[in-house]
Amino acid sequence: MIDLLIRNAALPDGQSGIDIAIQEDRIKEIGPALNPKARRIIDAAGHLVSPPFVDSHFHMDAALSLGNPRLNLSGTLLEGIALWSELKPELTLETIRARALRACRQAIARGTLHIRTHVDICDDRLLAVQALLEVRREMAPYLDLQLVAFPQDGYLRAPQAKANLLRALDLGVDVVGGIPHFERTMAEGAESICQLCEIAAQRGLQVDMHCDESDDPHSRHVETLACETQRLGLHQRVTGSHLTSMHSMDNYYVTKLLPLMAEAGMHAVANPLINMTLQGRQDTYPKRRGLTRVPELLAAGVNVAYGHDCVMDPWYSLGSHDMLDAAHMGLHATQMTALEQMRESYAMVTTRGARVLGLEGYGLEPGCHADLVILQARSPIDAIRLRPQRLHVIRRGRLIAETAPAVPNLHLDNSTEKLDLSSTAYEK
Ligand code: FE2
Repeated sequence: MIDLLIRNAALPDGQSGIDIAIQEDRIKEIGPALNPKARRIIDAAGHLVSPPFVDSHFHMDAALSLGNPRLNLSGTLLEGIALWSELKPELTLETIRARALRACRQAIARGTLHIRTHVDICDDRLLAVQALLEVRREMAPYLDLQLVAFPQDGYLRAPQAKANLLRALDLGVDVVGGIPHFERTMAEGAESICQLCEIAAQRGLQVDMHCDESDDPHSRHVETLACETQRLGLHQRVTGSHLTSMHSMDNYYVTKLLPLMAEAGMHAVANPLINMTLQGRQDTYPKRRGLTRVPELLAAGVNVAYGHDCVMDPWYSLGSHDMLDAAHMGLHATQMTALEQMRESYAMVTTRGARVLGLEGYGLEPGCHADLVILQARSPIDAIRLRPQRLHVIRRGRLIAETAPAVPNLHLDNSTEKLDLSSTAYEK
């Protein structure tokens, strides 16, 4: 007798009529018509059953702080950083913790069970680090938080950042962060990358840097990051986040850069929601899109994932922490509308994100963690198109969130008709 059977699932790879047998916290078997005896059965009724969403780039310490102490009027990255600095002295461990717990709950309801969050280490009290370490521990049964030591005010530019970053890593923060484009000069940005990558190499950690998050076509930090990754043998352990300057770079230069990144086994994370609003603010028309070159990176063999980045914070007033919103915006902004590209967009908020985080036991294979989301849609493309209800969210074989299907009642022609929005399937 198995613990849980999910019946009649459609899978992201296009298979349908699939059963998933779960024993304790692992997937035991997956295939058509398994029909074992089970303590509990969930009928997926032909809906999409997916591994959980992965948010590869988030700022949990700032999430849900919108309006404190004021709003970002220019809509720029730099005003957001200044505004966050105004807020920092007012922060308490308890307010950061409470907001983060609320953000985790919202993520779970949307089926996001893995989040890599940057945490600002430039506050000498390290309140955000302490708060998020506590939240990581508290939420561990329900979702995985991976923390990045992020020197928001500059690793070389902020007086205590160097010491604070090491303190944060000593306390248990997982990943080394950075922000080379915010250092004083291009040279100091490059120097910060070298020093931070060396720390990661010495400690056996991953690296995830905010890199070239500007519209400056001459910003070259990703090149240095690729080079340091090679020099220190950090292949598959380094992520360049944002990379928006790549959008504005000279095409010839990019043809040199992409193979460098691929050779280094770098990951790239784009944040479509936030960068579509932050970038191009100094442009008149035409206004540049605020996104890195996603299809070109993928074609070069670089693993690319999407992050949500911000939810109601000094940089972004909107957001509901739904990774399908990020995929939807990314697909449009990058014009990735071919069928295979749309499926790839779904992978960027699931399996490709899992590769960025280096997750083990992620996926829909026997032996993987029994972490699943059942969506009110029939396929990954329909999931992006509809951004539908997450009917069931399962973590380690346990149901942790449920949402009723959205089935509007239409009152037309003197009758009532129930309209199942997921019944119009783009593909089976
Ligand atoms: Fe970010």
